[in-house]
Amino acid sequence: MSDQPKLYSELSPWFHLLSSPADYAEEAEFARSLIADPDFPAPVTLLELGSGGGNNASHLKASFRMTLVDLSEGMLDLSRKLNPECEHLQGDMKTVRLGRLFDAVFIHDAVMYMRSEDDLRRAIGTAHIHCKPGGVALLMPDVIQETFVSLTTHGGHDGLAGDDRRIRYIEWTFDPNPSDTTYTVDFAYLLRENRGPVRVVHDTHVFGIFPRQIWLDLLRETGFEARTIADPWGREVFVGRRPPELE
Ligand SMILES: C[S@@+](CC[C@H](N)C(=O)[O-])C[C@H]1O[C@@H](n2cnc3c(N)ncnc32)[C@H](O)[C@@H]1O
Repeated sequence: MSDQPKLYSELSPWFHLLSSPADYAEEAEFARSLIADPDFPAPVTLLELGSGGGNNASHLKASFRMTLVDLSEGMLDLSRKLNPECEHLQGDMKTVRLGRLFDAVFIHDAVMYMRSEDDLRRAIGTAHIHCKPGGVALLMPDVIQETFVSLTTHGGHDGLAGDDRRIRYIEWTFDPNPSDTTYTVDFAYLLRENRGPVRVVHDTHVFGIFPRQIWLDLLRETGFEARTIADPWGREVFVGRRPPELE
């Protein structure tokens, strides 16, 4: 996709060096605990929208039968290698219609690419259309308006055995216009292959940002019973329960 960040297009083969599957274990366990709420029947099928490199799925697939949808073919290819037992489908979370229902629907950080209230409404609509009555939707944005902070972080990994690539990056989160519904995350990636020289690539990601009440209103308008929960890392996530059908 030409308007996708470079990380999900020309650089998608590098994604796991930037964001390693092992780093997702705790977050995936937190997500699993909310999806498999012991007060409700145990979910079996799980649809993830914006599944990316399949990092969460690499942990969640032990608990659920997963269908993974992403916009980027490059990211799907990466995830297929990591998660060959999962179903992979190309689609846009705003519009995709699979014609079947799942016990649970999950949208992790990919929901940040919903940049307007209308985008977010459409993604939540997709979650609702694919969620069985009585099922659950879990949405885990990186930030909401109330938790946003401008910051700079850095990271990166060396390739595992047999992969002689290395990445280091800085990530700069900044809101150029606090009165609109977006902010930017600029990445500078330093890429090294074998013992060769470092190549530098700049990549701007434009993320959506909405107040808590907008998230809750959109979930409720769409038909979910919605609540917000603080996660262990200072963020707020949203759980929507689709009411069961009356007998
Ligand atoms: C940070 S990655 C997700 C990583 C994922 N949480 C994991 O566990 O690997 C964000 C993903 O969102 C996808 N994405 C962005 N906009 C999307 C959309 N409208 N529909 C579906 N996927 C989208 C990108 O292609 C990218 O793969």
